Amino acid sequence: MLKDKHILVTGGAGFIGSNLVQELLAQGARVRVMDNFATGRRENLTEFLSNPKFELFEADIQIVEDCQKAVKGIDAISHQAALGSVPRSIAFPHNTHSTNATGFLNMLHAAKEEGIKRFVYASSSSVYGDLAVSPKVEGVEGNPLSPYAVTKMLNEQYSGVYARLFGMETVGLRYFNVFGPKQDPNGVYAAAIPKFLDKLLKNEAVTINGDGSQTRDFTYVKNAVRANVLALTTEREFTGAAVYNVACGESYTLLEVVAALREGSSELNYSPLYTFPEGIVEYVSNYPIDTH
Ligand SMILES: NC(=O)c1ccc[n+]([C@@H]2O[C@H](COP(=O)([O-])OP(=O)(O)OC[C@H]3O[C@@H](n4cnc5c(N)ncnc54)[C@H](O)[C@@H]3O)[C@@H](O)[C@H]2O)c1
Repeated sequence: MLKDKHILVTGGAGFIGSNLVQELLAQGARVRVMDNFATGRRENLTEFLSNPKFELFEADIQIVEDCQKAVKGIDAISHQAALGSVPRSIAFPHNTHSTNATGFLNMLHAAKEEGIKRFVYASSSSVYGDLAVSPKVEGVEGNPLSPYAVTKMLNEQYSGVYARLFGMETVGLRYFNVFGPKQDPNGVYAAAIPKFLDKLLKNEAVTINGDGSQTRDFTYVKNAVRANVLALTTEREFTGAAVYNVACGESYTLLEVVAALREGSSELNYSPLYTFPEGIVEYVSNYPIDTH
């Protein structure tokens, strides 16, 4: 169904975006990546550069004109570009808002003006906020706990408005802690699994913010990619604010995750594990470990 369809992937140089680009090209789509490399990596795109169906548009979703250029001739959009990380958004809320909220509206509006109907986008489990109930079900959300979560809630609200006003088919994918190849372990805002793995491989100490008993649902990136492909291709018609959880459906403690990573190789057994029940962490002040 994707053969020769022209798909725009914003944030295509990032972790999830580049995995999605790989699958779209494999299924015969033509792919344009829009990215400003704020957090994305050029090496994530190297393997596609010689593919005639691949095109890189180095541009910024915060700039209206860039978004207008990016959507020209496009059939459907997967909007992945954003500044991830809850702690980053707490430290730098303006940057997060400008990219994740204003940049999102720029893309959504450009898509509408170009007459593009299907607009798939990355939402986040962070929209469940302080909701204690588990499992999390679409339609029952809590109060946001970070500027990042506010921007993802705004994305869903804007999408619903554009669907109701202009008949766009918007599909929000609420990813739960995605992990897999091409995920960046570096930097203070790196996610937990690549960070743990990186430390284990270097025989360095693994640190957990808290006592390690906090649970998360983790999603392998291929499942996030599959959700995007389905949302881009399904003949089902979407009305209003369509949002879907993208998760594995089971919770694991961070201690279980580290134990599972160690099991992968005996060479990973040498790193000591430190937990910090008082909330001290090496890579971000004293906020809970990043939950997307
Ligand atoms: N990784 C997760 O666990 C997770 C969980 C929930 C939601 N999400 C969301 O999924 C999406 C992809 O996340 P990811 O983990 O691949 O992150 P990532 O940082 O690897 O990818 C984001 C990409 O967006 C690009 N980008 C950032 N600002 C931009 C701008 N102004 N203009 C153009 N491009 C810009 C970055 O350069 C990067 O390539 C994001 O919207 C994120 O909020 C991710």
